[in-house]
Amino acid sequence: MTLPDTPQASTAFPHDFLWGAATSAYQIEGSPLADGAGISNWHRFAHTPGRITHGDTGDVACDHYRRMPQDVALMKQLGLQAYRFSVAWSRVMPEGRGRINPAGLGFYDRLVDALCEAGIAPLLTLHHWDWPAALDDRGGWLNPDSVGWFADYAQAVARALGDRVAFWATFNEPWVITDGGYLYGTLAPGHRSAYEAAIAARHLMVAHGTGVQVLRAEGCKQVGLVVNLEPKDAASDSPADRAACVRAEAYMNRQFLDPALLGRCPEPLREVFGEAWVDWPAADLALARQPLDWLGINYYTRSVNRHDDNAWPVRASPVRQSQATHTETGWEVRAQSLTDTLCWVKQHYGDLPLYITENGAAFYDPPVAPPEGVDDPLRVAYLRSHLGAVADAIRAGVDVRGYMAWSLLDNLEWAHGFSKRFGLVHVNLATQQRTPKASARWYAQTIASNGAGL
Ligand code: BGC
Repeated sequence: MTLPDTPQASTAFPHDFLWGAATSAYQIEGSPLADGAGISNWHRFAHTPGRITHGDTGDVACDHYRRMPQDVALMKQLGLQAYRFSVAWSRVMPEGRGRINPAGLGFYDRLVDALCEAGIAPLLTLHHWDWPAALDDRGGWLNPDSVGWFADYAQAVARALGDRVAFWATFNEPWVITDGGYLYGTLAPGHRSAYEAAIAARHLMVAHGTGVQVLRAEGCKQVGLVVNLEPKDAASDSPADRAACVRAEAYMNRQFLDPALLGRCPEPLREVFGEAWVDWPAADLALARQPLDWLGINYYTRSVNRHDDNAWPVRASPVRQSQATHTETGWEVRAQSLTDTLCWVKQHYGDLPLYITENGAAFYDPPVAPPEGVDDPLRVAYLRSHLGAVADAIRAGVDVRGYMAWSLLDNLEWAHGFSKRFGLVHVNLATQQRTPKASARWYAQTIASNGAGL
């Protein structure tokens, strides 16, 4: 006799699937100079006229540095099982190297304690784009010493928090650090050079590998890396458009994963970087490739590409899909591409445990939450379809073990300032009042049912 499916039984998610939400230090904390913190690159960048929409800065942001206990209580109320956050290096080592600032570390010590007390697993990212400005003054990621700076910082954080942090990530999206920071200059430190982007990428990955070794030597468990992936679909079947996609995929999706997981650089990068490309020494490739316990994938959208000689340096241009829904950041909503991404990772890199470490959408919400609450049906639809895509990947045999929604709170969306709201929880930036949106309630129910029906 076959029993009819009950909604509870129809979940694709394993019973220990980890449901959570993510944030990063500069985007939410505020109080950038509190308790002896040094000036960060993002503090400096945000205070440089013209860099951030409306001149917004992270001076207050979501005031999380001062409201942390209430924010953890909110996470507990939503039923989060994990919380992904990042540590501000400039709080821990104000000059970037040498002296450790116990008061700055103390904040993360209290945060981790509060999370453990609430039964929420801490997932810590060591570097989510902000770091001490003093290190940029020493050449930033162009300086080979950056590897040692990162190793010392990783050790300081591991020694303070290693006994309680459940998951460690070395870097968040190294691709964005080099693409935005060194190639196009839209993010800190705002440089524009293919030569610099190629050098920074190598130092970042050697720092990643060295950081993994340091974390392991300190006894940290569950060590991984977080990358952002975006499938590159060809705008037509022409050989030129297909070749453009191969370059775009190598540049964005494989530039960091191939060294970290396969110990080599993708061949098409030579063509992309041209004379700016320098082969990595074998020792660097060996260091970059360390066994990882998990891989974090941030997924937001795909891109459809055509060959374009004017698009420096990849020679591929995105083609807007006019029939599709787009978010406030202009990104096409396409859940199927998340399934494709997860299957692609398994196919190219083997069976590594995967976590979705970011996924979410900016849609318009009013600055002040109306008395009847914040209804955000587009965000609910986005989350529902993308969690469905994760379920499809699991059914197809991909080992996905958790999902962190981006983001817990409306926060500072980097160069867009506060003009884009990604939060499950609405933040009134004038009063700092938090109001869970309809999406937060939907997500809480989804967690409670372990994704039944998705
Ligand atoms: C970053 C987040 C950012 C999000 C939305 C990711 O690239 O890790 O910090 O807010 O995308 O743009």
